[in-house]
Amino acid sequence: MVIGFCGSGSMAAAMARGWAADADGMLFTDSGSGRAADLAAEVGGEALDSNAELAERADLVVLAVKPARLEEAAGELDGAGTVLSLLGATPLERIEAAFPQADVIRVMPNVAVEVRRGVLCVAGAEAPEVRGMLELLGHVVDLPDEAFDAATAVMGCAPAYLALAVEALADAGADAGLDPELARELVVETTAGTAELLRIRHPADVRGAVASPGGSTEAGLEALDAEGGREAFEAAVRASLERMRGS
Ligand SMILES: NC(=O)c1ccc[n+]([C@@H]2O[C@H](COP(=O)([O-])OP(=O)(O)OC[C@H]3O[C@@H](n4cnc5c(N)ncnc54)[C@H](OP(=O)(O)O)[C@@H]3O)[C@@H](O)[C@H]2O)c1
Repeated sequence: MVIGFCGSGSMAAAMARGWAADADGMLFTDSGSGRAADLAAEVGGEALDSNAELAERADLVVLAVKPARLEEAAGELDGAGTVLSLLGATPLERIEAAFPQADVIRVMPNVAVEVRRGVLCVAGAEAPEVRGMLELLGHVVDLPDEAFDAATAVMGCAPAYLALAVEALADAGADAGLDPELARELVVETTAGTAELLRIRHPADVRGAVASPGGSTEAGLEALDAEGGREAFEAAVRASLERMRGS
């Protein structure tokens, strides 16, 4: 399958890196920054001068522009047969209206698609070949269109929140005397292992297994509580949702 990325920013790059070994070809456009050529050189694809050529040559057009550019890009992608929209906070109905002739699929990926461990929420047209490509990038979940904003807040935005937690823990480890690189390695590997464990155990069980009464982890959890740790994450999700909903 030849994949054409309309837009060559952060998310296009993450998906293209994840697909690099499997796509039959990858084509890229941008709006003049040169990022399409850089990405094409990195993953072994081709940068094109126009979205019209992209629509003509790609089996699948990945719409990877900012949501405000939807109509502009759609006008330039006339003739696209199958469109995969990555646009945040943009319902299927709006994408279908912009591409009345195309099969439209909406997907909300997260940046971990780059290492094929992403989460990808999907709605829209049935397209088994496209689904097969998405499954190469991680865990695919079918989702009603109206649930996308809430899902985006906890799986699209969350890599940034988790990265902040990792950074804060590593910095605290360095402040406590560890070599900064070592502190980061310890926290990153702990995060990866904890994620595996959380696939089979409830978060409360994992907390309970680490925090024995009167122990050092309990002291840490109490400090997190006192500083509003849980509320801070809840506030982050609320703020992301409010921004998506334009309120
Ligand atoms: N970043 C994430 O984690 C994430 C997660 C899920 C979904 N998304 C969604 O993915 C989409 C892209 O986000 P991003 O973070 O990758 O944005 P980004 O880094 O700003 O990239 C946007 C890209 O679109 C290009 N562009 C704008 N107008 C164009 C046009 N008419 N034709 C071709 N290319 C055009 C830009 O060109 P220039 O390079 O020339 O400026 C840029 O390469 C958004 O709709 C976002 O909601 C992002």
